[in-house]
Amino acid sequence: MKILITGGAGFIGYHLARYLLNDENHTLVLVDNLQRGSMDEDLQELLKNSRVQFIQADLTDQSFFQSLPTDFDHVYHLAAVNGTKWFYKIPDEVLRINTLSLIYILEWIKTLPRKPKLCFTSSNEAYAGAIEAFGQLPIPTPENVPLVISDVYNPRWTYAGTKLIGEQFVIFYAQTHHIPAIIVRPHNFYGPRAGYDHVIPEWCTKITQKMDPFVLYSPEETRTFCYITDAVRAMSMLMDSPATNTEPIPTIHIGNTDEITMRDLAEKMFAITEWHPQTFNEQPSPAGSVKRRLADITKIKNLIGWEPQISLDEGLRQTFTWYREHPKS
Ligand SMILES: NC(=O)c1ccc[n+]([C@@H]2O[C@H](COP(=O)([O-])OP(=O)(O)OC[C@H]3O[C@@H](n4cnc5c(N)ncnc54)[C@H](O)[C@@H]3O)[C@@H](O)[C@H]2O)c1
Repeated sequence: MKILITGGAGFIGYHLARYLLNDENHTLVLVDNLQRGSMDEDLQELLKNSRVQFIQADLTDQSFFQSLPTDFDHVYHLAAVNGTKWFYKIPDEVLRINTLSLIYILEWIKTLPRKPKLCFTSSNEAYAGAIEAFGQLPIPTPENVPLVISDVYNPRWTYAGTKLIGEQFVIFYAQTHHIPAIIVRPHNFYGPRAGYDHVIPEWCTKITQKMDPFVLYSPEETRTFCYITDAVRAMSMLMDSPATNTEPIPTIHIGNTDEITMRDLAEKMFAITEWHPQTFNEQPSPAGSVKRRLADITKIKNLIGWEPQISLDEGLRQTFTWYREHPKS
């Protein structure tokens, strides 16, 4: 199969490429402008495989699409600006880049004689505004809850806005132009090479630096974490399965249902790394923070029989090992 991955130098894109290359029949093209993903030693190692090609390009330049091959079987559109700090720093760019790149992908696929199957990565952020607007959502949260921007003046919701409108773009381009497609909503994927801004990478850094007192926000809030190899296996299985060739196209949560409090997560990481701070500096949750987030993953289980396989202990061990060898510079 010939597969295109946009955002291929990023966290999910890199791990997805590694996973797909296990199948000798696959050839891959990765496109990324290296705005966030980098040509680090991991990516360079991956690119030694002759079945993968890397193209550095900006997907908001529509003319780029003229240079792409036209015979892809699958397209994973992962390129986007994400990371909360960017929502506040460059909300206009978050809106422009995420929306334009998706529109150009869809406009390009629309013209192809044989339409590849498209995977669009939305986010649990698409419905996070509904929690703020309505106070709560069903727990576990199914795919069909309302997608809401609770305050259009708040830059925090720009990214969510691009995922919300992005889902609509994909649904109606697919319907109008007969493009096979799926929408996935990743829920807290973690693992090696995920940048340094999310909670687990941040704590890997703090533990390596032996931060004491250890600053701990929202210790009683619960979260779930899905290890990256489980996540990309789910994405690939969904794309390969005829069960996802439906009209209308399906929207599917990918996540783990093992809930853990932030305090217990910290304790787990201390146990794995065999270091424990003497004291904690506990901080309350920031305003608007959600006490509990839990995705309903019944749909993916029923569709393709996927379940997470990597335990949190194992995933954290592998993640910490990588971050210890690749400290934040
Ligand atoms: N990681 C998660 O848990 C998570 C959760 C929810 C949604 N998602 C979504 O999954 C997708 C992949 O996420 P990720 O964690 O790998 O993010 P990432 O930031 O690591 O990867 C995105 C990649 O897109 C590239 N990119 C950005 N703008 C581009 C442009 N104009 N042209 C070409 N490349 C461009 C970046 O350089 C980066 O390498 C994103 O769409 C994200 O919104 C991820």
